[in-house]
Amino acid sequence: MSRSGTMSLIAAAVTIGAVAVLPVAMTADAAVPGSLGALAAAKGKYFGSATDNPELSDAPYVSILGSEFNQLTPGNTMKWQYTEPSQNQFTFTQADTVVNLARSNGQVVRGHTLVWHNQLPGWVANVAADQLLGVMRNHITNEVTHFRDQVVHWDVVNEAFEENGTRRQTVFQQKIGDGYIAEAFRAARAADPTVKLYYNDYNIDGIGAKSDAVYAMVQSFKQQGVPIDGVGLQAHLILGQVPATMQQNIQRFADLGVDVAITELDIRMNLPRDTAKDTQQANDYRAVTNACLAVTRCVGITVWDYTDKYSWIPSVFPGQGAALPYDENLARKPAYAAISAALGAVPDTTAPSTPGPPTASNVTSSTATLAWTASTDNVGVAGYNVYRGDTLLAQSATNGVTLTGLSASTQYQVVVRARDAAGNLSAASAATTFTTTVAVGGSCRVAYGASNWGGGGGFTGQVTVTNTGPTAITGWSLVWTYANGQRVAQMWNATYTQPAATVTATNVSYNASIGANGGTQSFASTGRTPAPTASRRRSPSTGRTAPSP
Ligand code: XIL
Repeated sequence: MSRSGTMSLIAAAVTIGAVAVLPVAMTADAAVPGSLGALAAAKGKYFGSATDNPELSDAPYVSILGSEFNQLTPGNTMKWQYTEPSQNQFTFTQADTVVNLARSNGQVVRGHTLVWHNQLPGWVANVAADQLLGVMRNHITNEVTHFRDQVVHWDVVNEAFEENGTRRQTVFQQKIGDGYIAEAFRAARAADPTVKLYYNDYNIDGIGAKSDAVYAMVQSFKQQGVPIDGVGLQAHLILGQVPATMQQNIQRFADLGVDVAITELDIRMNLPRDTAKDTQQANDYRAVTNACLAVTRCVGITVWDYTDKYSWIPSVFPGQGAALPYDENLARKPAYAAISAALGAVPDTTAPSTPGPPTASNVTSSTATLAWTASTDNVGVAGYNVYRGDTLLAQSATNGVTLTGLSASTQYQVVVRARDAAGNLSAASAATTFTTTVAVGGSCRVAYGASNWGGGGGFTGQVTVTNTGPTAITGWSLVWTYANGQRVAQMWNATYTQPAATVTATNVSYNASIGANGGTQSFASTGRTPAPTASRRRSPSTGRTAPSP
């Protein structure tokens, strides 16, 4: 299905009104070009994410959910606990919210799940044995009917087998017996003749006792005409443990005549993350993606939410997590790149065009504002780097930046290069030169103490200069004027000149730096009387003598 075809169908649906629905057979591919959803759609598959209602107030999260994926699964709110909390009291409000979001995004929805022993309201356990089949059918009928034409798959029965391939002893198994699974599928089919009906389970991703049991069940359903369309491999996997037989397993189910979906993919690691684990995880995600791509009837992959911010793993597997392709800050992890590449993303090797030469304005002793003509790029300009020689001075998302922390009285020759998301850098712009101004009146505090000695012949002076500003000072001078003809005789820790009443004391090499926010340097002098009792001050400057007051 082409992108434009999808869009026109969505548009047509919208004009019908609020109750309009997308045809379920559509592969939604409204995700933005280059997204995982769009790449998967180009291969005839979907790439989706689980999501949950509380997260939908997180706008950056919702934005990526809508642009990157072409399928959604409600992580919780279609479960029995939410949809029939009291017997025959159905509420679909929360699940409807997810379905409506998916529709507005052009995404298809997997329904999850109708019959499961977990997240089952307490009242179900108290239903009499001879009533439970009717109760189960009633639940299925109501829920499937409500979401008819709005979901493309139903996980009809979830997690019905033990690891050794025997039936899990759930309330349904115990009160209805082995036949409950087939009955559930029949009830779902009766309520919706076209939705794809899935059996879904974990630890059936590779070949083993449990997947053998599911295989045997599907085979017998096919022989008996029980309506089953697909098998969901949950794929809650452990780092480095993608089953080697995953593709073979998918293929054997396909060969039985059912579709396969990877329904709840996550790949957990022992925390904390590190580079090696991220690399392994990327390899694991690539392997799963490739296993699905290799089998035509593998219809798509759903990650069990897409970001570590909302993963269920840490709460259920203590000490483990970081299982998803986006980190907790919604940044893409190496796993994302691996999935994207496996889905056929063409690496972007085209650099952005060269930006225009920057123009400098509002130049001060430590800042300057630059602006330049924007670059263009085949995919998109991600931002700009500003360099002085080889030194990266600043980065900017837009075609302008204010440089800060510059040295005073200094000539800067700067160039700008544009970059794209793949890391391609444009050629450097033409250079622009500007010179920062003299830093007079920078913020400082001067403490001066002086005392006469020997009854009048001379005095000692002690001066401490404190940098009260937020940036360190390199090189300083202090200028003051004696009011009563005093002369400096000697100075320690500073050099000085005193042509007349005004004295300029300048740092020596070892005390040139005064740290930001309260750093100090001191010097001392002797002088000829009378000792002054008050001082006048000027601020330190950067390598320059400030004018006298
Ligand atoms: C999990 C949800 O992600 C959690 O929020 C919830 O607390 C428990 O269920 N197999 C399934 C999913 O089929 O429904 C489960 O989802 C994860 C395991």
